[in-house]
Amino acid sequence: MLLCDRAEYIKEMEALKSREEARWKDGFVSGAVYHGDTDHIDFLNRVYAINSQSNPLHADLWPSVAKFEAEIVAMTTNMLGAGQAGNTPDVDGAICGTVSSGGTESILLAMKTYRDWAGDKKGIAKPEMIIPVTAHAAFDKAAQYFNIKPVLIPVDAGYRANVAADRKAVTKNTIVIVGSAPSFPHGAIDPIEELSELARQQDIGFHTDACLGGFLLPWAEKLGYNVPPFDFRLPGVTSMSADTHKFGYAAKGTSVVLYRGEELRRYQYYTVTDWPGGLYFSPTFAGSRPGALSAACWAAMVAIGELGYLEATQKILETAAVIKAGIQEIPELHIFGDPLWVIAFGSGTLDIYKIMDYMTRHRWNLNGLHKPACVHICVTLRHTQPGVAERFIDDLKSAVAHVKQNPDEEGGMAPVYGMAATLPLRSVAGDMLKRYMDLLYKV
Ligand SMILES: Cc1ncc(COP(=O)(O)O)c(C=O)c1O
Repeated sequence: MLLCDRAEYIKEMEALKSREEARWKDGFVSGAVYHGDTDHIDFLNRVYAINSQSNPLHADLWPSVAKFEAEIVAMTTNMLGAGQAGNTPDVDGAICGTVSSGGTESILLAMKTYRDWAGDKKGIAKPEMIIPVTAHAAFDKAAQYFNIKPVLIPVDAGYRANVAADRKAVTKNTIVIVGSAPSFPHGAIDPIEELSELARQQDIGFHTDACLGGFLLPWAEKLGYNVPPFDFRLPGVTSMSADTHKFGYAAKGTSVVLYRGEELRRYQYYTVTDWPGGLYFSPTFAGSRPGALSAACWAAMVAIGELGYLEATQKILETAAVIKAGIQEIPELHIFGDPLWVIAFGSGTLDIYKIMDYMTRHRWNLNGLHKPACVHICVTLRHTQPGVAERFIDDLKSAVAHVKQNPDEEGGMAPVYGMAATLPLRSVAGDMLKRYMDLLYKV
């Protein structure tokens, strides 16, 4: 390849980037980019470049990345209650974990771990996991991948898992109970204390999915917000997922999965000793892994530090409060539950997907949810820029006024959501999503 070609490719990519960047940079996007300041991105990119060849599979060649990952895990365990009340290392083993590629991988790993732990320790051959309907799709994915029966639990009026239903759902085959802190759809924190205690009493695993909240709730608590207990300070919590690539402000591609005790973590590991390729082992699903992403994750954590996380959390929660108050002022809309920063809202009188479509036409990228129909905005640091929250509320008011005046307007995502909500057409919708993925790979 000629050098001039490289320059051309870089130019082309710069052009693509500048076309895509403004929407998220200007704060029009729910979730997705959680930090996004230019100097932070430049710093992470520089760290990535320095470490671009490293691979944790070869810890002998790159001991630096083993150190980065061990310290990422140690910092996360400290943040999530290790060594504090309820965590008794002499009985249970210290809180430990591994770095993974994202929230979904952390969840898949934890569910596989419980399947193998329960098979080995309890002889459970037909494992079941109890998950609230609002738990992330990654749990259903784990159920499909690892042949675990998902037992779905309804949520209460506050969109939190129904504890009585959880209790009723436990069988001799239950390997793990799951709760979210908070849930993806409505930002609700499940009653982790009650659920984890139920699990502990019956020697069942309990996983707190803190992919969204793991790097925000501990700081919210320190700032004096009302945060119910959700971490390893609860003795029944035996594993957690917390995403460094969300509110940990690392580059995309890292998360942390944590366990109560090394014995449990060992069920996650893979080893083979009779392979002609040699003695082989890997802690997570992948073989080779991008050490540069772990280096960038470590760098983000140490550079931001406790003070940086506290300040970021304060800004996000204050901005979310402005957005919540703004939505509450719009009589046609209502907020689901009592969320901190993932704010789901719906309408009793208007088609909420048409409101979302109007917002999309005005550059916003919100998350459409269903069962029940609603839309959410996950507030990030991008929304804490001056004027963004106010612009969101102004546009939302215009959207409501527009849909009120034009209730029969066609187009957008509204009909797709409408179709997915009707039972006979659900498999058609599933097939459509598969064809959409085919399209993504068309050149
Ligand atoms: C609560 C929760 N769990 C798990 C995940 C999955 O994370 P990822 O997209 O990194 O795989 C998400 C993603 O938004 C989430 O909100």
